[in-house]
Amino acid sequence: MKSLVILDKIGEDNNKMVKIILFGPQGSGKGTQAELIEKEFGIPSVSTGNIFRDNMERGTELGKTAKDYIVKGHLVPDSIILRIIENRLKEKDTKNGFLLDGFPRNKVQAEGLAKITDVDAVIEIDVSDKESIKRISGRRTCKCGAVYHVFYNPPRILEICDKCGSKLFQREDDKEDAIRKRLEIYHSETKPVISFYGEKSIKINGEQSIEKVFENILSELKKRNPTK
Ligand code: AP5
Repeated sequence: MKSLVILDKIGEDNNKMVKIILFGPQGSGKGTQAELIEKEFGIPSVSTGNIFRDNMERGTELGKTAKDYIVKGHLVPDSIILRIIENRLKEKDTKNGFLLDGFPRNKVQAEGLAKITDVDAVIEIDVSDKESIKRISGRRTCKCGAVYHVFYNPPRILEICDKCGSKLFQREDDKEDAIRKRLEIYHSETKPVISFYGEKSIKINGEQSIEKVFENILSELKKRNPTK
């Protein structure tokens, strides 16, 4: 297994890279943890969901195409996703590594990623479907990508983003039918992909506080760091 060189502020040392994938069902807290990991390691979080939402908001061709799939809870076609990832991972800000949130979601995407790059660690945030649904129903999202929850992680000012001051909204794919479809796809197509990564995968109990989940992620990554 390739050595995992992490857990200092890697941005301060260009020889260090960290490449992480975050897996987990809808509402497990991938986006929430991605924001924390991004800050901790100074690597960009690449969220395919956020890329689509940004394009939908701006009314681009990609946004119009993706919307038809997203509102029904279906996956956007693999060819589109793979092109986006390949281009995104060529950008300069990924020189110290990256965190993939929401990709890969099936075997074809995992095989496509393996042709583009290797990864160091694969984190699976484990929560039950019941908990997923509870969290999604209280989620509020900002166009800047920040994620809140009306009870568990509220913004300082009601319905306003702490980071950019924009009005928060409820996602169109957070309706009951779409949520059920998304969870079904997660169990049948996405979860089986985790086994593809063998020893690199780390399972975290996601049914704890946001802080505790983050603490567990850091300590599990540390355990796998042979240089520390
Ligand atoms: P995407 O945006 O990736 O959605 P998702 O995978 O369905 O995941 P979610 O964003 O719903 O949940 P999350 O795990 O990030 O949880 P969050 O941090 O928000 O994708 C959307 C769509 O785009 C897909 O359905 C698909 O159509 C398309 N797409 C994207 N990638 C694709 C790909 N690779 N291939 C094809 N199509 C693709 O947390 C949820 C809530 O819980 C929040 O309110 C949060 O505040 C709260 N919370 C978080 N952690 C905790 C905690 N520990 N305790 C209590 N509350 C918590």
